[in-house]
Amino acid sequence: MKFASSTSTSVRALTFLSLSTVSVLSQDSTTSNITSDSYFYGQSPLVPPAALPSGTTSSWASAYSKAADFVSQLSQEEKSNLTFGVRATTSGCVGFIPPIERLGFKGLCMQDAGNGVRLADGVNAYDSGLHVGATWNKNLAYQRALHMGAEFKAKGVNIALGPVVGPIGRIAEGGRNWEGISNDPYLCGALAAETVRGIQENGVVTSTKHFIGNEQELNRNPSTNNQSQHVEAVSSNIDDKTLHELYLWPFQDAVHAGSGNIMCSYNRINNSYGCQNSKLQNGILKDELGFQGFVVSDWGALHAGYAAAEAGLDMVMPNGGNFWGKNLTTAIDNGTMEASVLDNMATRIIATWYQFGQDSDDYPSPGVGLPRSLTTQHVFVDAKVPSSKKVLLDSAIEGHVLVKNTNGSLGLPLQKPKLVSVFGYDAATPNKNPSSEGPPDRLSQILNRTMIVGGGSGVNNPAYISSPLEALNQRAYEDGSQLLWDIANVNSTAQVDAASDACLVFLNAWASEGYDRSGVHDDYSDALVNNIADQCNNTIVVIDNAGVRLVDVFIDHPNVTALIFAHLPGQDSGRAVVSLLYGESNPSGKLPYSVPKNESEFGALLSPTPPEGQYWLFPQDDFAEGVYIDYRAFDANNITPRYEFGFGLSYTTFDYSSLEFNKVDGPSTDKYPVGEVIEGGQGDLWDVLFQVSASVFNSGNVDGAEVAQLYVGIPGGPVRQLRGFSKVDVEPGKSVNLNFDLTRRDLSIWDVVAQKWQLQKGDYKVYVGGSSRNLPLEGSLTI
Ligand SMILES: *[C@@H]1O[C@H](CO)[C@@H](O)[C@H](O)[C@H]1NC(C)=O
Ligand SMILES: *[C@@H]1O[C@H](CO)[C@@H](O)[C@H](O)[C@H]1NC(C)=O
Ligand SMILES: *[C@@H]1O[C@H](CO)[C@@H](O)[C@H](O)[C@H]1NC(C)=O
Ligand SMILES: *[C@@H]1O[C@H](CO)[C@@H](O)[C@H](O)[C@H]1NC(C)=O
Ligand SMILES: *[C@@H]1O[C@H](CO)[C@@H](O)[C@H](O)[C@H]1NC(C)=O
Ligand SMILES: *[C@@H]1O[C@H](CO)[C@@H](O)[C@H](O)[C@H]1NC(C)=O
Ligand SMILES: *[C@@H]1O[C@H](CO)[C@@H](O)[C@H](O)[C@H]1NC(C)=O
Ligand SMILES: *[C@@H]1O[C@H](CO)[C@@H](O)[C@H](O)[C@H]1NC(C)=O
Ligand SMILES: *[C@@H]1O[C@H](CO)[C@@H](O)[C@H](O)[C@H]1NC(C)=O
Ligand SMILES: *[C@@H]1O[C@H](CO)[C@@H](O)[C@H](O)[C@H]1NC(C)=O
Ligand SMILES: *[C@@H]1O[C@H](CO)[C@@H](O)[C@H](O)[C@H]1NC(C)=O
Ligand SMILES: *[C@@H]1O[C@H](CO)[C@@H](O)[C@H](O)[C@H]1NC(C)=O
Repeated sequence: MKFASSTSTSVRALTFLSLSTVSVLSQDSTTSNITSDSYFYGQSPLVPPAALPSGTTSSWASAYSKAADFVSQLSQEEKSNLTFGVRATTSGCVGFIPPIERLGFKGLCMQDAGNGVRLADGVNAYDSGLHVGATWNKNLAYQRALHMGAEFKAKGVNIALGPVVGPIGRIAEGGRNWEGISNDPYLCGALAAETVRGIQENGVVTSTKHFIGNEQELNRNPSTNNQSQHVEAVSSNIDDKTLHELYLWPFQDAVHAGSGNIMCSYNRINNSYGCQNSKLQNGILKDELGFQGFVVSDWGALHAGYAAAEAGLDMVMPNGGNFWGKNLTTAIDNGTMEASVLDNMATRIIATWYQFGQDSDDYPSPGVGLPRSLTTQHVFVDAKVPSSKKVLLDSAIEGHVLVKNTNGSLGLPLQKPKLVSVFGYDAATPNKNPSSEGPPDRLSQILNRTMIVGGGSGVNNPAYISSPLEALNQRAYEDGSQLLWDIANVNSTAQVDAASDACLVFLNAWASEGYDRSGVHDDYSDALVNNIADQCNNTIVVIDNAGVRLVDVFIDHPNVTALIFAHLPGQDSGRAVVSLLYGESNPSGKLPYSVPKNESEFGALLSPTPPEGQYWLFPQDDFAEGVYIDYRAFDANNITPRYEFGFGLSYTTFDYSSLEFNKVDGPSTDKYPVGEVIEGGQGDLWDVLFQVSASVFNSGNVDGAEVAQLYVGIPGGPVRQLRGFSKVDVEPGKSVNLNFDLTRRDLSIWDVVAQKWQLQKGDYKVYVGGSSRNLPLEGSLTI
């Protein structure tokens, strides 16, 4: 027998096996390791190729009819050539589809990333996904995307490789969590939808990624182990309900917002690689969600031939690899693959090109502003538009989250300080720009320069960098005050001028694509804070953090008077933080994740899952916690976090009142939706069933913006789940009305038997307030 005995590891995996396999396993008493993953294959059911979208979504009907006509004029080889990348010889596009000149198709250029155009000059570095999450500002997310999208267009990019909604942030140490927006699916989905709209408003297609379950960097790709054995990529084993209610949710929002492209992920899902998983690509994305665009592989994520095409992958990047290229046409010629599969792939690709108006002569040629290399002779294409200045600064400011403040003569905002002392390796301007290299030995912080972005393909080149130290020097000049700094003494030896009115300590917590973080706090930076706080009674800490960063080693030090999570602000970092420190702007960000007191409170979700036991050649990662990650888990387990999801302070205070419900007349509250599938799923999922209103009052002395949050206790689910938020400006002594729409989808659970979203009969608790644990308004609605 080639299967293992029921050790604890295999028992853990049992939940994902079919009944017949379970009985085989339980009878098996041998102890040899599993040597073939055929054992696992089949758990992800085979789903035949999706039908071509035939204008079910009327907005795509014309694009499909033009595409059908276009594709009918192509040879088999030309169709195949649309489905795999080639090296761009005249531009720096990271992905390139060659032109078909005789039909006016100029080719397609794909470029990273989610926070600005990568590998380019003449562009801005916007705040990262997590920072956008911390703004909780839909309009700002839209504006950021609109301006960023204009830069992609000016550079001749057809498909911008973002936004990131997966990883959602299941694993605290996940290397790419900062590229994503929030580990709450509702917040993530809402801001991803605005990002999709904003970028696509320019005619640039968004590639919403990574589909799906790409929650750790460890073993994200196949590898060779220390015994020269081939190790498959990690398998994210996700049950159907969890998939729909958590991981798929933001993808659904992105598809509903019209995202023209989806990127499949490196990892396996139920032991089938993301880019050849027919259940996910054909069954869920194209059939269930009615996705109209095309699926592209992550770079190098294809591990199968024509079977991947049948499984719903439409395009492979960055080249045909060992699998596609000529082999697709060969498979048709020898009768192995239906010609219609290739026709549909080519049609989806060309329909997307038409849908976004990229066939227009006005659309810049692919890669026109992206030189192959910045060091060779090229025309400087300045893609930045003047109005981006305000968006960059506003977005940088609003993603800062103030979580501790003593509110007195100490703390923030600074009261005309005469002497400010600055410490911390994160304050400095980098020695060079671009400066994208990470820490030398994968430390958890990046030394000697301010961190405006994490590492990997999500990095782009800023037009300039405003560092905290530079902005503070400018401020000292304007105020005629004294600024002292020591950012070279990295941890324990810095001396403080005893006359300091305030000591600012700048830290960072690094993360990068390609590997997971080595921790969520570090002794080195913690020692620095405690050392300064021992000497300075007004120690204000600012952390640029690419993911959750624990603070319990220093947060209760009586001299730590304020703490700001500054996230990844992009190129206006220093300018933004100085404006907040000096009270020229009022903090309005809220945490898009929870900060627990100790690592242990993450349980199994602290670190990535390594290959282990008899599965070490086929790493298995069972998402056994279901939807219970982050605050859903902390609420369920009665863990009081240091700072809860949705929390953030302001220089003013807000009071809530006047909760009211209004059941909307008209839409049915029957058990299941009955609507046609539009982009995102059955159309009536977005029917508004209830309107909730409340009022927020500014009870302090200064203008401020509050992120009002609405949580719902869906029967049978987590205690509460975010289902609405609204960011409003409120003047002191004034009230503002809040309105939230609750859709059928917001109130439904995924029914695994019916394979539909189900609205349950019963009472739903509704809470409104300023964070997931400060919810002064409470009521209930009945269905
Ligand atoms: C993965 O397996 C689980 C457990 O059998 C199942 O609920 C789910 O639908 C599967 N998902 C996919 C994409 O195969
Ligand atoms: C298809 O692509 C290959 C490889 O890039 C190229 O050599 C060939 O000329 C292309 N065929 C056509 C018909 O364009
Ligand atoms: C090989 O890797 C395994 C799993 O990480 C580890 O337990 C083992 O000690 C390693 N062996 C060698 C020779 O490095
Ligand atoms: C196609 O398949 C053959 C084996 O049949 C393989 O050797 C070749 O590398 C594949 N790829 C391409 C691009 O032809
Ligand atoms: C047909 O071609 C495909 C792609 O090269 C190959 O994988 C498959 O084995 C071939 N089948 C037959 C029956 O020749
Ligand atoms: C940081 O700067 C200090 C002094 O300027 C230097 O000694 C140290 O090597 C630098 N560290 C890194 C990681 O570059
Ligand atoms: C904090 O320290 C400063 C400088 O030593 C001193 O002037 C001030 O009175 C102290 N404030 C408090 C509240 O202890
Ligand atoms: C301070 O930093 C140095 C150099 O990295 C390190 O050797 C030392 O252990 C650190 N001290 C503390 C208290 O963290
Ligand atoms: C707080 O800072 C003051 C200097 O302003 C220092 O004298 C005092 O010891 C510090 N308190 C603690 C608990 O370290
Ligand atoms: C968590 O607890 C461990 C063990 O007590 C401790 O070493 C660690 O510093 C704690 N982490 C934080 C962030 O306080
Ligand atoms: C089974 O896997 C372990 C790693 O967990 C390895 O040390 C061992 O050699 C393997 N046994 C066999 C029979 O391959
Ligand atoms: C600061 O504290 C005072 C007195 O306790 C209180 O009235 C005020 O609302 C607080 N302000 C903020 C912004 O928390």
